[in-house]
Amino acid sequence: MKTFTLPGTDLTVPNVVLGVMRIEDKTDEEVRTLVGTAMDSGITFFDHADVYGSDVHGCERRFAEAMRWTSSEREQVVLQTKAGIVPEGPYFDYSHEHLVRSVEGSLAALGTDWIDILLLHRPDALVEPEEVARAFDDLAAAGKVRHFGVSNHTPGQIELLRRSVQQPLVANQLQLSVTHAPLVAQGVAANMQALDQSISRDVGTLDYCRLHDITVQAWSPFQAGFFTGVFLGSPDYPELNAVIDRLAAQYDVPAIAIATAWITRHPAQMQVVLGTTTPERVAGAALGSDVPLTRAEWYEMFRAAGYTVP
Ligand SMILES: NC(=O)c1ccc[n+]([C@@H]2O[C@H](COP(=O)([O-])OP(=O)(O)OC[C@H]3O[C@@H](n4cnc5c(N)ncnc54)[C@H](OP(=O)(O)O)[C@@H]3O)[C@@H](O)[C@H]2O)c1
Repeated sequence: MKTFTLPGTDLTVPNVVLGVMRIEDKTDEEVRTLVGTAMDSGITFFDHADVYGSDVHGCERRFAEAMRWTSSEREQVVLQTKAGIVPEGPYFDYSHEHLVRSVEGSLAALGTDWIDILLLHRPDALVEPEEVARAFDDLAAAGKVRHFGVSNHTPGQIELLRRSVQQPLVANQLQLSVTHAPLVAQGVAANMQALDQSISRDVGTLDYCRLHDITVQAWSPFQAGFFTGVFLGSPDYPELNAVIDRLAAQYDVPAIAIATAWITRHPAQMQVVLGTTTPERVAGAALGSDVPLTRAEWYEMFRAAGYTVP
């Protein structure tokens, strides 16, 4: 497993991490096997959110109840969670009161004294940057949160926060898979008239994050679209799966490792946030941590996924 020091922190992190959005119905034993398999593969970083699960903090609680880590075991892992979404509504809330209350709830549910990284989950149109800054200062001063970041944020939204927030924003978690790649695809087809791919939906988010040492974390790395099912093995993507299967045989890894490597191969040094609850898939994806796809292979997958290389 490839690891690196997450810029803006003192944390050594793997480039493949486990998201636990889907563990709510898993038994203690299933969660322990899933997490144990991840850790055996070098995945020591777990991505949570207050809203994962049918009850607020549900998945965080399920995770902690199953793992029951000692304090020394807790120190060996990185726990990241998110705040800012209010599920009833739904709406977004970056107020001081909501952010602090959410973190208190996450600490209780996770059974820990600190969150390693807190992400603002989805942009709040009514954000008051000074209020976010005050919440971050209070959470940092109390030792409740060590590092901060964002998710699904544009460069402008990050700039607005950065004018008030003292702490570095170390991560931006964004949807990215080879079939859902507006983040990278627009730049490849810049300046093309009458091509949908040329429309900028992210206003240069990837380049901005690279310029500012903000680590991109790719969520839904195997979903074809927005929770539409995975492209791996899907009859909707015969050409892509043929390329993936050929590369999997060539590198002697499972197909899921090649899909992972399409993201880890990118020089932005992204982290892939897995969401599978199947231990074998976690172990297989981890093998994609440092598969050295060539430029030709990377672009072949991109074209086979339906993107244009002008
Ligand atoms: N920041 C955000 O806004 C945001 C949004 C969504 C998610 N996330 C984070 O990203 C993580 C990953 O999201 P995701 O779960 O949508 O991503 P994913 O890893 O692309 O999808 C995993 C889902 O696909 C299923 N699946 C079916 N066939 C599969 C195959 N061959 N290989 C792998 N998975 C297969 C899995 O089922 P099994 O479990 O049965 O294997 C699981 O339900 C979440 O856990 C969460 O931490 C963040």
